[in-house]
Amino acid sequence: MEEQLKSLEQKALTDIEGAPDSKALEEIRINYLGKKGGLTAILKTMGKLSAEERPVMGALANAVRETLTAAIEQKGSLLKAEEMQKRLAAETIDVTLPGMRRPIGKKHPLTQIIDDVTDIFLGMGYNVAEGPEVELDYYNFEALNMPPGHPARDTQDTFYIDPQTVLRTQTSSVQIRVMENQKPPIRIISPGRVYRSDTVDATHSAVFHQIEGLVVDKGVSMGMLKGTLEVIAKRLFGEETKIRLRPHHFPYTEPSCEVDISCFRCGGKGCPLCKYEGWIEILGAGMVHPAVLERCGIDTTVYSGFAFGVGVERLAMFRYEIDDLRLLYENDVRFLSQF
Ligand code: DAH
Repeated sequence: MEEQLKSLEQKALTDIEGAPDSKALEEIRINYLGKKGGLTAILKTMGKLSAEERPVMGALANAVRETLTAAIEQKGSLLKAEEMQKRLAAETIDVTLPGMRRPIGKKHPLTQIIDDVTDIFLGMGYNVAEGPEVELDYYNFEALNMPPGHPARDTQDTFYIDPQTVLRTQTSSVQIRVMENQKPPIRIISPGRVYRSDTVDATHSAVFHQIEGLVVDKGVSMGMLKGTLEVIAKRLFGEETKIRLRPHHFPYTEPSCEVDISCFRCGGKGCPLCKYEGWIEILGAGMVHPAVLERCGIDTTVYSGFAFGVGVERLAMFRYEIDDLRLLYENDVRFLSQF
């Protein structure tokens, strides 16, 4: 038995010494000192020994166990230190490497225009109102003096959900919704998406954006409308910008006008941007038609109002000198990052 113990000790020590890592070392420990290990197997045969031999072999077996345990412990801490070194080497971070650049996004040009215009109007005491894009025919047409069959509907053909429900063709629908819910004084703008069944080309899109404006109060005049639009034009296109009101017709305003700004490229002399006219049309406006006010329960002997509607894409195309509106919807970063 003594020989068995000695040879087990020798073999175990060689194994421990050669253990390549902590996991292998643990396997060696189980192999020799575990419940089903080599040392236990030898001890199980102790019963066959004489009474004198037994304590001697018992002591020897204990000594072997102690030697091996100590050897395993020592090798274990050595391996742990080695493994830590390896991990540290493998996981070092080189803080002098240049960082990864993350591309920083920016607002879409249409959003920039909407935000800029909204800012200017908020500064003048307006609130922002919103209305649904899926709109009742009543709000989009009828309440704006465009009953079924009215010829002005032809220029704003749209997508029908059902005979009473359309994708709104203009943000003017929000005027009605606001006036139904709010007593004057009213001072709102309403930016949003509008739809028309137009064939897409460089200047047309079936989906585009408008910003509507509405002011209803005592003594609101055409002069106030002109003054307001002048402020906007100067803020958006520069202090030298002049505006010009041309008589026009909209069913929901009387009188109505189209508003031009002096060409900011040539200052009015004439250039390709303004098609040599010196002026660029930017919006429609007018004094809110009395029938529209009355339909919303507003007393026209006390109150009057002005309204305007401007196409956001048009503003963006002029401001950023974009010649094809479709570029605004392609979401090509090479295009969008220029603005
Ligand atoms: N809704 C008109 C359009 O889509 C624009 C417009 C014109 C709005 C005159 C108005 C207005 O509020 O008074 O072309």
